[in-house]
Amino acid sequence: MIVIREAQTEECSLLSDLCVRSKAVWGYDTEFMERCRAELTVTPEMLRETDLRVAATDDRIVGVVQISFDGTDAELDKLFVEPDLLRGGVGRTLLEWATMAAALRGATRLIIDADPGAANFYRRMGGVDAGTAPSASIPGRHLPRLYIPLVPTANGEADSP
Ligand SMILES: CC(C)(COP(=O)(O)OP(=O)(O)OC[C@H]1O[C@@H](n2cnc3c(N)ncnc32)[C@H](O)[C@@H]1OP(=O)(O)O)[C@@H](O)C(=O)NCCC(=O)NCCS
Repeated sequence: MIVIREAQTEECSLLSDLCVRSKAVWGYDTEFMERCRAELTVTPEMLRETDLRVAATDDRIVGVVQISFDGTDAELDKLFVEPDLLRGGVGRTLLEWATMAAALRGATRLIIDADPGAANFYRRMGGVDAGTAPSASIPGRHLPRLYIPLVPTANGEADSP
């Protein structure tokens, strides 16, 4: 069974390694991965100051998700699943947590600047294409931008298509 929980400070290094392993599934070379390293790092400050959760089984962490807020927009900052568990539902579980948490905080959209390899996953999960956005790590690279519409409901529950 997978549970979504907060991360512990001592898990930061393990989580950063998971993000790197996960990003690497798309076959990027060493130089590209090095340039992405800052974006793939989880710090104790992030645990204190942002909305970050992990997906965990009984014996290990299998994914990580992080969102932030900008007015009525929420942004998906991280979503990474252990490579040996791809297509096993972990990404869906983490993204559902992100949409619920964002809607409960009053966001009307979850914005995603997607790795090109992951864009069809987001479309499958209800993501709507919204052009492109510059990569935060690689100058001149542009990423597919998508958003998931969020509809907070009267009882505090959140819908997402
Ligand atoms: C993108 C990612 C998070 C998806 O996680 P996942 O656990 O493999 O996805 P799930 O198993 O929950 O898939 C949910 C649905 O999306 C589909 N799906 C998953 N990955 C897909 C892909 N790359 N292309 C198309 N569909 C995909 C699944 O088949 C499933 O469809 P279903 O509803 O018909 O069963 C995962 O591939 C990953 O971590 N990739 C590497 C890191 C990365 O690129 N992260 C995103 C950064 S923006």
